[in-house]
Amino acid sequence: MVAPGGVNSPVRAFRAVGGSPVFMASGRGAWLTDVDGNQYVDLVGSWGPMLLGHAHPAVLEAVTAAVSRGTSFGTPSAPEVELAEEIIDRTPVELVRMVSSGTEATMSAVRLARAFTGRDTVVKFAGCYHGHVDALLAEAGSGVVTLGIPGTPGVPAHVTADTVVLDYNDRAGVEAAFDQLGDRIACVITEAAAGNMGLVPPGPGFNQFLSEITTRHGALLISDEVMTGFRVTRSGQWGLDGAVEGWRPDLVTYGKVMGGGFPAAAFGGRADIMSQLAPAGPVYQAGTLSGNPIATTAGLATLRHADAAAYERLGAASIRLQHMVAESLSAAGVVHRIQHSGSMFSVFWGVDQPVVDFAGAQAQETWRYAPFFHAMLDAGVYLPPSAFESWFVSAAHDEEALSRIAEALPHAAAAAAAAEQPDPQGSR
Ligand SMILES: Cc1ncc(COP(=O)(O)O)c(C=O)c1O
Repeated sequence: MVAPGGVNSPVRAFRAVGGSPVFMASGRGAWLTDVDGNQYVDLVGSWGPMLLGHAHPAVLEAVTAAVSRGTSFGTPSAPEVELAEEIIDRTPVELVRMVSSGTEATMSAVRLARAFTGRDTVVKFAGCYHGHVDALLAEAGSGVVTLGIPGTPGVPAHVTADTVVLDYNDRAGVEAAFDQLGDRIACVITEAAAGNMGLVPPGPGFNQFLSEITTRHGALLISDEVMTGFRVTRSGQWGLDGAVEGWRPDLVTYGKVMGGGFPAAAFGGRADIMSQLAPAGPVYQAGTLSGNPIATTAGLATLRHADAAAYERLGAASIRLQHMVAESLSAAGVVHRIQHSGSMFSVFWGVDQPVVDFAGAQAQETWRYAPFFHAMLDAGVYLPPSAFESWFVSAAHDEEALSRIAEALPHAAAAAAAAEQPDPQGSR
């Protein structure tokens, strides 16, 4: 083994479901092929980026042409500007700064919010994951909850001393925090729809409420659309709420889809705030490969092909899949709840009431997921190896891919039904 735990990102490990991760060798459309030649319908989509499916011909063509022109210049180049224009066209942001990962985007957005407001306190929600930023790992979702990591070793207490963790969808909690700490809060950072504790959508008007209360107290709202951006609608989650209700977050973070499978991410927002970034302003933020021409070319090609027809295919495939899963689980007698925002969804096991926060997500019967996951894997369907992750469909999930899933589901649902709760004293 050459990497800690055998992986370069903890969510890829099979710790929560048992076994060893599958090494993938190639991908095309909705399908992945492992190093032994086995084929799987992919419902992970590289954890979100592969909106159009793997190896989309237009993305490959654009990237191949870009590579032949050189891979990095360390100067401004056209693709990063065109990608920024595409992002601005789709979203509420006025200026964009490119970075290479979602973690960098949220870290930089928080720094900027603190600088702009001259305040230190950051409010986040339990179960939301914003990358492995020191100050934002407290009570985080994604791999942090999957692996049951209790605290954040390596993060000095003083770094999280200014992080306030509240319950997602809890307006009263947010109001109380502002009543108590209002003049110290720099920003509220929230997943635009929580996707890292399973899929927990914001309650009706919750994001608008966050926008209003932050504005009233001179704080900023950072909407983290790293996962939802350009996926749940062409404008991300904001397309479902802010654009309809008539409000804008102050700062927004993006990643995943906008890189088309390459390391590209961004943060953007109000021009007066973004103009505080160096070299226009005093807030330092930089990156050797930020706005890399290959990564931004891939992202641009992806977004240009993420048109109305692609979102329609994606939405239809997601709805069919949700129905198929619900039918199979119900037929097998597995109590469950499927929650979605746009085409992003997840299954909560042993739960029949709406899951609105982290406590609700953690109350599920995660032990039913491991046998389900392995039965699906054995039948050629690659799911996230954790019950706390969203399932990612692509616009390439066609009839053939959905049929493979439909064939696999009954046996997997039976395996989930037969699962036995592990002894809480057990060693797992
Ligand atoms: C909502 C959200 N924010 C931030 C991140 C961090 O992005 P990255 O893994 O590119 O650093 C993620 C990653 O899953 C995410 O889902």
